[in-house]
Amino acid sequence: MSSQVLREARKYEELKEQTIAQKERPLFHLSSRVGWMNDPNGFSYYAGKYHLFYQYHPYDTCWGPMHWGHAVSSDLLRWEYLPAALAPDTACDSDGCFSGGALEAENGQHMLIYTGVSRQAQENGEVRDIQTQCVAFGDGIDYRKYHKNPVVDIKDLPADSSRFDFRDPKLWKGCDGQYYFVAANNRADESGGRILLFSSLDGLDWHFESILFENDGSFGKMWECPDFFELDGRWILLVSPQDMLPKDFEYHNGDGNLCFIGDLDRKTKTFLPTADQAVDYGIDFYAAQTLLTADGRRVMIAWMQNWDTCNNNHQSKRKWFGQMCTPRELRVQNGRLFQRPVRELEAFRRNPVTYTNVLVQDIVTLEGIKGRTADLELELSPENSEEIYRKFEIHLAKNDQYHTSVSFRPYESILKLDRKFSGSRRAIIHQRRCRVARNGGKLKLRILIDRFSVELFVNDGEQAMSATIYTDMAADGISFYADGNVRMNLSKYDICMG
Ligand code: FRU
Repeated sequence: MSSQVLREARKYEELKEQTIAQKERPLFHLSSRVGWMNDPNGFSYYAGKYHLFYQYHPYDTCWGPMHWGHAVSSDLLRWEYLPAALAPDTACDSDGCFSGGALEAENGQHMLIYTGVSRQAQENGEVRDIQTQCVAFGDGIDYRKYHKNPVVDIKDLPADSSRFDFRDPKLWKGCDGQYYFVAANNRADESGGRILLFSSLDGLDWHFESILFENDGSFGKMWECPDFFELDGRWILLVSPQDMLPKDFEYHNGDGNLCFIGDLDRKTKTFLPTADQAVDYGIDFYAAQTLLTADGRRVMIAWMQNWDTCNNNHQSKRKWFGQMCTPRELRVQNGRLFQRPVRELEAFRRNPVTYTNVLVQDIVTLEGIKGRTADLELELSPENSEEIYRKFEIHLAKNDQYHTSVSFRPYESILKLDRKFSGSRRAIIHQRRCRVARNGGKLKLRILIDRFSVELFVNDGEQAMSATIYTDMAADGISFYADGNVRMNLSKYDICMG
């Protein structure tokens, strides 16, 4: 039966939600039902629907005692909120139900696995958060926590592992019929994240298998929110590293997102990466999680936000905080992770406006090209291949006062996303750059604009860049600019969810 803590959260969210008008939310991105949202959790398909849970503090628009919010969808884009699924209400999760995964269990129930957090006094008197792995079973709406939780605790960790950083289990069923999860852990001296692999025959009795892979110090410190799956004949490990140092245009400072492509040594149960890359080169993207659709697509979703900037949100009097990125289909191509918005989005594209071979010199605006809920496809090429243009720029969400810009300098092959003039009043990160494939000034871009975000997909999804923007809705203009001569093909669709 549900606890008082969960019942109160459910009552609160139902009432408070009514104060948020639809137009105050993103159109096709899931936002927090009320209060605060961070990581996607339990992204899974169950009983005919996609389920997406999320780290949730219903009572305020800042992080607090973590609940699991819950939404379902048939198309990954139109989400319906369901009552909160988990609340911090048992001994092992009294201080939070942290991130985790989900799948349909053998018995037909929806199984959730999550990190229970409880503050405990240590031998030296210090009070620390203790993180253990817990499970719950439900019917897609109500979940019952297993009475013997936690199912994995710090006694199950390797001797040289941190006793304090142990979280974010991602669950799957192996082709051998066993349950597996990967979880984030740290070395005991906190020198770097490691990913642990556990297995179970029934989902209740778990065994430590191996340290699947660990940070050699090149990729920040602690790693959070791992996901591990096979894709196009390779194995992919996604992690969200903390405290990164920048590396060229690939990795930026602070919390990042990281993809390793490699192979699995099934004997030693260790992962052997052969390549690494950022998943998203923009500003707001963290804690990615994937699912496998019935038709075999690996779809990724992530928190479209970053920890370094979100603590300024108090200034904004916002009624909700936190949204997910557009779900993206993944593939491995030329040794890289490619991503594109889920194909379901195409069904919501309306009112196409197409231009071919537009010559962009200086500033250009085009009849019918504007909007704050739109999908744009652009192909650029130099007017004269002997004389490549110096810069191409698009302004989005634009009026006299505001704009967000996407600019491309072919000589350096640098694409820049800049939200400095988006209406932000804080000294937060406003720009990110990404080095794209050099192709004689040719570039393909797909841009998704929602009310509070911009997502770019470069060269058929070879790279992506995402950022939130909180620009006045009246700023719905789009303009183009070139220093030099650019030929542009352009299609623009309104996104309509009705
Ligand atoms: C990542 C994270 C997770 C943790 C959760 C807590 O954003 O720090 O490691 O489970 O958020 O809300």
